[in-house]
Amino acid sequence: MKKIIRNGTIVTASDTYVADLLIENGIIASIGLHIEAEEAEIIDASGCYVFPGGIDPHTHLDMPFGGTVTADDFETGTKAAAFGGTTTVIDFCLTTKGNTLQSAVDTWHHKSRDKAVIDYSFHLMVSEINDIVLDELPQIIENEGITSFKVFMAYKNTFQADDGTLFRTLQTAKREGALVMVHAENGDVIEYLVEQALAAGQTDPIYHALTRPPELEGEATGRAAYLTGLTDSQLYVVHVTCAEAVYKIEEARRKGLRVYGETCPQYLLLDQTDLEKPDFEGAKYVWSPPLREKWNQDVLWDALWNGSLQTIGSDQCSFNFKGQKDLGIDDFSKIPNGGPMIEDRFSVLYSEGVAKGRISLNKFVDIIATASSRLFGLFPQKGTLAIGSDADIVIFDPTVKRTISAQTHHMNVDYNAFEGIEITGEPVSVLSRGEFVIRDKQFVGTPGAGQYLHRNRFEVPTVELSSTTEKVSGGVL
Ligand code: URP
Ligand code: ZN
Ligand code: ZN
Ligand code: ZN
Repeated sequence: MKKIIRNGTIVTASDTYVADLLIENGIIASIGLHIEAEEAEIIDASGCYVFPGGIDPHTHLDMPFGGTVTADDFETGTKAAAFGGTTTVIDFCLTTKGNTLQSAVDTWHHKSRDKAVIDYSFHLMVSEINDIVLDELPQIIENEGITSFKVFMAYKNTFQADDGTLFRTLQTAKREGALVMVHAENGDVIEYLVEQALAAGQTDPIYHALTRPPELEGEATGRAAYLTGLTDSQLYVVHVTCAEAVYKIEEARRKGLRVYGETCPQYLLLDQTDLEKPDFEGAKYVWSPPLREKWNQDVLWDALWNGSLQTIGSDQCSFNFKGQKDLGIDDFSKIPNGGPMIEDRFSVLYSEGVAKGRISLNKFVDIIATASSRLFGLFPQKGTLAIGSDADIVIFDPTVKRTISAQTHHMNVDYNAFEGIEITGEPVSVLSRGEFVIRDKQFVGTPGAGQYLHRNRFEVPTVELSSTTEKVSGGVL
């Protein structure tokens, strides 16, 4: 069935204009004025923005962590994502030492198949490097279309890999055309700070933040950036929270290195004082890296606007306050890390960013969708509105005012970290490959309709400016 989205304001990372958009066989068949097509369903988008569906480059659905499993799985998580305007998620496939990478990927296929309501893909965690892993990585890229690898520099004794592993992963990524992602915090030093705090009887949630200071995020970010330069590889720093890390990314980019960064909604709106809330409520705000002093928010907004940071990920990793977060009631280090952000990522960036004049409409689209599609090998199938692209589309009413609340959200978790925050703008309808998933704010999708996406390899820029000896900075961005 053909569909025409009529009279909406089409917004891409570069353009804003009123036009009609024709969808045929799940792809965008035409964009223009006064489009007519026989037997097409007409969808009136007057007064609304027509955005490409959001791409969330950072989710943890159905993930075991800290002795429990995230509250949202691929069904509830992708449904909430769709309500929020996101049509693609890239989830982290965890690996364990001693097991094949393929077995980990198969586990993640099992978790997601028949459940996802929107399209999805995987990043693959690399926890160790040996001959078996080195053999397997190129096969995973080729067979699974997984072109990004994650190395944790923190979470000692669980996820953390050593610098040698990061170095060899960067070398492999350079050779094979993949993007290396890092959780950049110095896990060895954090381990000592946590031990010392607990020995001194400091067990409240605030000590989670105080034992993971920004210096340790800046240091790890800089270390990863240096190793990227040494290997002439490419790096994406996930969940950047603070000035110390932003400055390291900026320094690397000034040198022409292909170093990119992501921040998350929580670091733009919340701050360290949230961890001090009474009655253990601070546990709702436990992320790693932690929320920072408020002034860092301006640094992050500036970095998004000037391009030092390119994307926003939800880092969706939801745990119920009752029954999960309270595992750490007597010991902050036992609070499962992470929070529910998959649903509000899109609208919060619009409201706090565009509506408050911090970023432009086109920059919003770039941050919410286009930059991730380029970096993670999905462009132009995803992340833009162009003829031939998948019809992943959000019809967005920019005038609605609403208050975020766990009472009305769609995530499978008993609190919302943005409870009570008033925002402007809301997705009205959301389409995935031309089919409604959300129609007039109602869910009409189907679990299992989401397709697994094989992604293209990281594209290393070949352009050299003749007038300068420096390489073109920023690679694909
Ligand atoms: O606190 C967080 N960020 N939890 C999710 C796991 C990770 O480090 O990304
Ligand atoms: Zn597969
Ligand atoms: Zn992380
Ligand atoms: Zn994460």
